[in-house]
Amino acid sequence: MGDAATFMIQGLDDSDRHWQIPARQKERAILTLAEQVNVAGIAPRSGRRPYCAAERQPIIAAMNLPALDTLLGGLSPRQFLEEYWQKKPLLIRQAVPGFAGVLTRDELFDLACDPDVESRHVRREGEQWILEHGPQMRGRLRGKRHPWTVLVQGVNLWVPEGDRLLHHFDFIPQARLDDLMISYAVDGGGVGPHFDNYDVFLLQGTGRRRWLISDQQDRALVEGAPLRILQNFEPTHDWTLEPGDMLYLPPHWAHNGIAVGECTTYSIGFRSPTAQELGTEFLGWMQERLCLDGLYADPDLSPQTHSAEIAPRMIDQIERMLAGIRWTRADVAAFVGEYLTEPKSHIFFDPPEEPLKRKAFARALESRGFALDPRSLLLFSEAGFHLNGEAIEIPETLAPQITELADHRRLGAGSLWTPALLDLLHGWYCDGFGGPDEA
Ligand SMILES: [Fe+2]
Repeated sequence: MGDAATFMIQGLDDSDRHWQIPARQKERAILTLAEQVNVAGIAPRSGRRPYCAAERQPIIAAMNLPALDTLLGGLSPRQFLEEYWQKKPLLIRQAVPGFAGVLTRDELFDLACDPDVESRHVRREGEQWILEHGPQMRGRLRGKRHPWTVLVQGVNLWVPEGDRLLHHFDFIPQARLDDLMISYAVDGGGVGPHFDNYDVFLLQGTGRRRWLISDQQDRALVEGAPLRILQNFEPTHDWTLEPGDMLYLPPHWAHNGIAVGECTTYSIGFRSPTAQELGTEFLGWMQERLCLDGLYADPDLSPQTHSAEIAPRMIDQIERMLAGIRWTRADVAAFVGEYLTEPKSHIFFDPPEEPLKRKAFARALESRGFALDPRSLLLFSEAGFHLNGEAIEIPETLAPQITELADHRRLGAGSLWTPALLDLLHGWYCDGFGGPDEA
């Protein structure tokens, strides 16, 4: 097994520059800034979205993420994509110097207990793994008898700072981003040795976690377990991550993360739909748009020996009719735009109860800018813009600004607020898709 002094992975370049803690001086400067923000503490708020702490300084924003030079250990996005993405792991010490997370433990537990939020509680009792889906009960989050962990999915949907953190990974196209999951574990807690079908960045928040990883081909799973647990796990590398350290894992690398004392880990995950899923979804999409002419007809019908037989001529005709089902690249592009921006089934938007009138809205944008709601998905392609599962018509004159909004998820206060842009954004605001920037 490798150790921290010699971390080597076959196929990695022979330089270990990406594995070193960056220059202490730079680290210290960023840390100091983060500390200034951090000492203020985080007070939970009441209301529908207690996690949107608008009145406190977001830690992430103040840390000036992303300093891509530290986030990728000195690699440029191009180098990272060429050398590591979907190819081999990368451990980056102090990827986010001074990182202390975007939520306190209690705020994370609030999310885990929220029925709108996806969460899982996992504990191991002897040889048995126990999985309980959310909403979690408070008592479950105080267990002392067995090591346990709670995993909260889609934190970016509820916590603006989580959304910002997720989008610091925009050097991978947003269309590939899935969500930010936060896991909290007590000492010894984890979800066991397993592998995932998608890429993940594992950013250590508070505390420490020991990661064991392996490129093993044996992916046999324990039968009957409620989690995907590898039957045989033979780790080849063993690293303990400190706050701000980050491990990138490509799909199918076996891994096991074990909390060393209590800790939180931030998982930036990516979506990799299966061909089966894409096919099923596409055919469902096509079904709604299918428009075939004609009617089954057999004016030349002749007597057949068996009245129960479906005659070959009948199958021939139906085959010809079904051959009329066609799709074009434009159909595929339109489908992909809708599919990739479709909010998950448990996601609903909250339109403002007393929306600002158009004039007050314009004044708010002139002073604060506009930000998409963390739950909103806005992407564009050759098929145009798609917002939250729907194609949207954008006048050509607004395309550059909506492109900027899609890329950065906000438009600054100094933007050119034309009446057409204000009309469009006011409509989105009234639907709960975004609003005056709270950051
Ligand atoms: Fe995993």
